[in-house]
Formats: sequence, structure tokens, C-alpha cells
Amino acid sequence: MSRVFRLLNTAACRMAVLAWISLAGGAYAAQPSVPYVPTPQEVVERMLEIAKVGPQDYVIDLGSGDGRIVVTAAKKYGARGFGVDLNPVRIKESVENAGKAGVSDRVAFHERNLFETDLNDASVITMYLLPRVNLDLRPKLLDLKPGTRIVSHDFDMDDWKPEQSVDMTVKAKYGDSPGTSSVYFWVVPAKAAGTWQWRQTVGGKPVSYELVLDQKYQNISGNMRVSGAGTRVQDAKLRGDQISFGFGADVNGSPMKHEFSGRVSGDTIVGTVRFSGGRAQGQSDWNATRVKKTGLPAGGHTITFAGR
Ligand SMILES: C[S@@+](CC[C@H](N)C(=O)[O-])C[C@H]1O[C@@H](n2cnc3c(N)ncnc32)[C@H](O)[C@@H]1O
Repeated sequence: MSRVFRLLNTAACRMAVLAWISLAGGAYAAQPSVPYVPTPQEVVERMLEIAKVGPQDYVIDLGSGDGRIVVTAAKKYGARGFGVDLNPVRIKESVENAGKAGVSDRVAFHERNLFETDLNDASVITMYLLPRVNLDLRPKLLDLKPGTRIVSHDFDMDDWKPEQSVDMTVKAKYGDSPGTSSVYFWVVPAKAAGTWQWRQTVGGKPVSYELVLDQKYQNISGNMRVSGAGTRVQDAKLRGDQISFGFGADVNGSPMKHEFSGRVSGDTIVGTVRFSGGRAQGQSDWNATRVKKTGLPAGGHTITFAGR
């Protein structure tokens, strides 16, 4: 079984194996869609450290094997969580391993298809699956609570680029054989695309703002209208539900730098704005409302939802 994973890690064979997986993909119900290959313990710990797992976290491992990721998350990092695996032998091993580690009160293991598992309690999702399976899971992962962290061993998410990736040399990757492991890390972004509007009092006068944001995964870009005049947004960042961006615009006849930061929650953003330059300096509250929503279908192009 481990040969499949070793093949996937050699560049020459990757495309052929991916093509085979694409043809075979989609039938996840009856048989495990991914062979059992355990993540080496040092990689498990690196995955959990990259995801900054701690006592507040709820970790779900998709295809949990012998339970090592969830058991380590509980024992070493104080988290809670569960694992799912289609193989009853793996579930039995996991329950035993949790007992030996003394964490049975904080973890659970379920014989269940990962595609039929409710992931909404997760603050962290871990996985060691296959490229095609990652891609089939991607829409479900992107619909999780903004800020949910996802960490994957060896396989990425195609054009959903990770926030961080690390390659590490592992002494015993497949049995006793050495190898290289890659760890990929994502944060589920809020759905921020659309047209946002707000008013701000600057230098004692009301100013109207409109922001049109485009989004592809966590990457955002946009255009502003400030009292009707257009300008391009700079340094736009979205991490989970935290958004920030800036721009320069003339306000009441003076050039002024604006720096916004806030939290996206549904169709509102609440945060602060800092102004500098011109006649007004300082900081004030920022409350924006989305008046038209756009979203990202699986193909990656922006579409418009029914607006309000
Ligand atoms: C590569 S192993 C990873 C095990 C463990 N997560 C680790 O990293 O050590 C993949 C596991 O996924 C399980 N699996 C494959 N397809 C599954 C599915 N559709 N639902 C649940 N588990 C699945 C397999 O039985 C196997 O134990």
C-alpha cells in the first residue's frame, strides 16, 4: 500500500497516478478511497505545531488511521477532537491508543465515511488523503467557519494555495525507509466578495464610501469610490474573518491615507479606520454593510448571488 504514496512523491509518476485517481475518483462510499499509510510521528507534531493547536481547539482527522493525530493533539497539545475512518480495525486500534495515552475522555473515533461527516465543530481539520480526495473535499472545507485551520500531509489543494508549506526530511517515512514529507496549511477565508458601503465622518463632514471586492480563496482585491471618485485598494488581506486594506483618496479637498481593518461577519464588517494626512488625523469606528454579494463557485470565477 505504501507504494502508492511513494509513487506519488516522485515527480515522474505523479501525473500518471493522478490521472488514474481521476478516473477512479468519486466512489468513496463502500471502500476506503485512500490506502492506510500512517503519518510519521515527527510529521504529526509538525502539522499540529504549524496549525498552532492548543487546549481551545477541536481537531478532526479525516481518515484517522490508528488515531495518532487526534491522540497527539489531545496528549501533547491539550486539544479535544475525533477521527473518522472507514476501516473498523483502525477504529479499534485508535480507541486502544487513546486509552494507552490517557486521553479517552477527550477524543472519539467513529467508523464513518469522511464525506458524510459533520465538520462544523472543528477548529482544526487534519488530513493525509490523496490529491483527488482533497479536491473533492475542497468545497466542503471552504464552507466551514471562517478561521478554521486545515493542515494536510503531502497533498495540496490545487489552486487554493496554502498560507504556509514546509518540506521536511523524515528518517522513517514508509516503514523504515527515509523520505520527504510536505505539510500544507490553510485558513478558511470569510466570503468577502461583493459591494460594501458605509459612511464615515471625516473632519466633521460625512463622506460616503463604496468598496467592490473580488475574491479568489483568501486573495482579495478591490476598487473604492470615495464620495464618487474612484481609487484602487492596496495591501488587501483576508485571513479567516479578519480583513484589512488601505488606499489614498481626496477627502474634503485634501489627500488622505486610509487604513481599514475589521472582522467580516455575514453581510457586515465591524472594525476601525485610521486616517492620516490632510486636515484630519486619527482613528474611528468602521461599520460596513454588503449591498451586493458575489461568491466563488468550484471553478474559481466570481459569480453574483441575488443581491439585496
Ligand atoms: C493515509 S491514511 C492516514 C491515516 C492518519 N490520518 C495518519 O495521518 O496517520 C488514510 C486513512 O483514510 C482512511 N479512509 C480512506 N477513505 C476514507 C473515507 N472515505 N472515509 C473515511 N476514512 C477513509 C483509510 O482507511 C486510512 O486509514
